[in-house]
Amino acid sequence: MSQENQIIQVRNLAKTYPGGTEAVRGVSFDVREGEFFGFLGPNGAGKSTTINMMVNLVKKTSGTIKIDGFDLDSHASEIYSRIGFAMQEIGLDETATAREMLELHGRLYHMPKAKIQDQIAKLLKLVELEKVADRYASTYSGGMRRRFDLALSLIHEPRILFLDEPTQGLDPHARQLIWNHLRELNKAGMTVFLTTHFMDEAETLCERIAIMDKGQIVTMGTPAELLEKHEAKNLEEIFLKTTGSNLADEEVNLNAPDPYARRRG
Ligand SMILES: Nc1ncnc2c1ncn2[C@@H]1O[C@H](COP(=O)(O)OP(=O)(O)O)[C@@H](O)[C@H]1O
Ligand SMILES: [Mg+2]
Repeated sequence: MSQENQIIQVRNLAKTYPGGTEAVRGVSFDVREGEFFGFLGPNGAGKSTTINMMVNLVKKTSGTIKIDGFDLDSHASEIYSRIGFAMQEIGLDETATAREMLELHGRLYHMPKAKIQDQIAKLLKLVELEKVADRYASTYSGGMRRRFDLALSLIHEPRILFLDEPTQGLDPHARQLIWNHLRELNKAGMTVFLTTHFMDEAETLCERIAIMDKGQIVTMGTPAELLEKHEAKNLEEIFLKTTGSNLADEEVNLNAPDPYARRRG
């Protein structure tokens, strides 16, 4: 594959947090334009740290990140205009409405007024938030916040979308909704990079998967390649073989505490 097709190029990326935790210990990978690529791994593997470095929310310790040919160190603003992201820690303005926040973001990206309104109408429908669009964010449930955050990440029609555990804490309906939209966006040409600790999510959505454990990529390939390479009958077996973690510990727990509850107070 030629280098130009690689819309994301990451080389020897590493992060040591103040205090000494080596969260990411030298990861390298490419993502091709239009690809749906997933980072799978147990809690604490370094997935969030990696994706946060890729969108410049966490400062890398070493290594290089190139997106659409631009080096993040020297061309961050070129990269910002091309990417959208929705991360685990969401900073909602509780005293604004979904519509207001979408409008604000559209203006931050210097989008024409009419285009902003078109996008807002389209996105609110996409994530099924039309009915609550004019309510304060402080009244939104965890699932609504996730869906709103996805809408926000898409306002400027980015070519590359970064999502950190996009369906964490969602009920099955909302999960399916998000999966369907991500598939549609990807079909329309958007490159999607996501992290997940849900095996089924990676299996359902991703064309290529990297499994991460203890700050390193332990295996990477298409699901078919991985099955062959690890002589496994499913992804779960590969996960177990490569990380030593039992996926039973990571099953979807719909009764899990709402991760945003503490924000709502
Ligand atoms: N801000 C931080 N400061 C110090 N250590 C952190 C910070 N964020 C994450 N870590 C540590 O880095 C490691 C990787 O965490 P993280 O990237 O969140 O993994 P994952 O997203 O795969 O669960 C963990 O040991 C975690 O405790
Ligand atoms: Mg994480």
